[in-house]
Amino acid sequence: MTGRLHDFHSARLPLIERELRACLPRSPLQGAERLNQALDYTVNSGGKRIRPLLTLMVAEIFPLPQAIALRLACAVEFLHLSSVIFDDLPSMDDARTRRHAPALHVAFDEAIAILTALALYATAFEIFSPWPALVERAARTTGSQGMIGGQAADLSGVRPTRLRKTAPLFALAVTAPALAGGASPDELATLEAFGDSLGEAYQLCDDLLDALASESLTGKTAGQDLRHGRHALGDDFTPEKAFQRLRELIGQAQRLLRRGLPPCPGRDLLEDFPQWIERRAAELKHGQLVALADGGDPHPRAGECGPVA
Ligand code: IPE
Ligand code: IPE
Ligand code: MG
Ligand code: MG
Ligand code: MG
Repeated sequence: MTGRLHDFHSARLPLIERELRACLPRSPLQGAERLNQALDYTVNSGGKRIRPLLTLMVAEIFPLPQAIALRLACAVEFLHLSSVIFDDLPSMDDARTRRHAPALHVAFDEAIAILTALALYATAFEIFSPWPALVERAARTTGSQGMIGGQAADLSGVRPTRLRKTAPLFALAVTAPALAGGASPDELATLEAFGDSLGEAYQLCDDLLDALASESLTGKTAGQDLRHGRHALGDDFTPEKAFQRLRELIGQAQRLLRRGLPPCPGRDLLEDFPQWIERRAAELKHGQLVALADGGDPHPRAGECGPVA
């Protein structure tokens, strides 16, 4: 990460990390200690915090008090954390490793993992509750019309729709602060389409990593999509086709921003983001991401990886 994106990332990441811990739900009940431990494990297991960073970038365009922007960013990250806990379960991807550590259901057990994911999901809605329109949008985004529908399509092996498991949450990450910050319907539509394209590109990158990168780089069980017979972009998937599609999506995202939002520093930051994904995908293509991992810290902590590592 370079330039202004790097500066923004460095400045905001500690704030996100602090807020995530402050917003983390707890149970006061005797007997629920393992749930609380699992919540701590989840929030302390690292993660690139891409989605909350996007939320904070948009909050630069539609100024919100920083405390509110940070809470919205946490809600979005809690939805993401919830989704990957479910995703790793034996009945879904059956993944044992995430973020260079045992997946939550491996470190604890399936029941605690399910409860932790639900606790995070519920907290996100509690955070959104002052904005009824945001509650409605988050429900639509994460529900059967959005992420959950996409995940079902992915599990069934149905092809291009598999990218839909990820795009809606990216769209929410960028529309939540806009909605709370009073954006116009046109601006909201622009951001929704931008988040959608960006999310599809991000998932494609993740699929490329799954196919091409080692577990020491990604921190996740490698080759999961192949093991489950789910190939990015369909059965005729090739890395070259995936890179090509990724470049199209990145171009689409950037055009949407330029056409739909007036120039401002927040828009510049947002524009840098798809470019960053594209650059990292190109590095992966040329083997440079693998080289990075070989020489790097095998156990990155929160925010220490690039966006696709
Ligand atoms: C992983 O997302 C799941 C996808 C939807 C691709 P990230 O790559 O953003 O995961 P973390 O939070 O950084 O571990
Ligand atoms: C996860 O996609 C998408 C959701 C959780 C909605 P993946 O299955 O590709 O994510 P990873 O690779 O396990 O992080
Ligand atoms: Mg999955
Ligand atoms: Mg998975
Ligand atoms: Mg994946």
